Amino acid sequence: MMQLQETFKALEMKGDELVLIDQRLLPACEQDFICRSCEDVFHAIRDMVVRGAPAIGGVAGYGVWFAARQARGDMDLFDRLCAHLVDARPTAVNLEWAVRRVSAVARATSMDLDAIRREADRIVEEDIAMNHRIGEIGSRIVPPGATILTHCNTGALATCGWGTALGVIKTAYGQGKVAHVYADETRPRLQGARLTAWELVKAGIPATLIPDSAAATLIRDGRIDCVILGADRITADGDVANKLGTFALSVICRRYGVPFYSAAPTTTIDFDTPHGSMIPIEERDGSEVTHIGDVRVAPEGIGVYNPSFDVTPHENITGIITECGILEEPYDVAIADLRKRLGR
Ligand code: MRU
Repeated sequence: MMQLQETFKALEMKGDELVLIDQRLLPACEQDFICRSCEDVFHAIRDMVVRGAPAIGGVAGYGVWFAARQARGDMDLFDRLCAHLVDARPTAVNLEWAVRRVSAVARATSMDLDAIRREADRIVEEDIAMNHRIGEIGSRIVPPGATILTHCNTGALATCGWGTALGVIKTAYGQGKVAHVYADETRPRLQGARLTAWELVKAGIPATLIPDSAAATLIRDGRIDCVILGADRITADGDVANKLGTFALSVICRRYGVPFYSAAPTTTIDFDTPHGSMIPIEERDGSEVTHIGDVRVAPEGIGVYNPSFDVTPHENITGIITECGILEEPYDVAIADLRKRLGR
């Protein structure tokens, strides 16, 4: 049994500055992006300097602290800054959840900046602890000698530390259970090729990068023991919004009887939204599809459809791995029980 050590932090407060690894530049360049205002945090989220639902929640907490500092007691301005922050990206529920949680403390303490900052710190600390627990719990479903396929990036870069689905993979690898990982490149922003591959190589886990469309062949040919990936929002019936391509993977896994797991902290559950069809799906700029880097690969004048996420119906999901245990069918009952337990 060996415990892998993290060698980087995706987000960290240093004095009054929020220091982020600029994920747009990885793996070519490891450069910091510094946030000194609520607007900087908004841009970091919208432009995907930082991405991944729990990491977005973590930085949003500090965004509220910056907003409180900037507002200097002007509650209208504070509310406007917080609402603007929530608009940065619509799908990951952790963003709105974190802004609500920290702004409630701001109001309850009459804008005590120290108390607000402590609450933002707590979100980060709790997320790291939840991820280690998700890793422990999730590793139980990984068979010995497993070959696992994952999608997008769900590691330490996508969270406040350790990771969700990639956290499960790292924990199971530390237990000697993982033989190999296949990482989807994850078109069009290449979170798999750029970020998951970077994390896997850093962790020394044997891994192979594949074009997204190669996954079907690997699954059909019996070369994948299970798929584990993340979530951006889980509705009360267990539907999961996650990076575009997740739904297709779930259909292929169901067709060939391969276990398909989503791993996420309970902060990613949107208890108030009944079905996946009600999740707002972000559509991003067409240039993400027409261009690779700065190079145009599609002709001028072509139309583009670029949804950043899709929704996987709960019936395609073998289990949802959370820090409170693995949720299974019937998901509506399991999630309602969990809500009671959490008092949310
Ligand atoms: O557009 P992104 O890179 O923010 O999308 C990220 C994902 O879809 C992840 O799977 C999800 O946020 C979980 S990260 C632990």
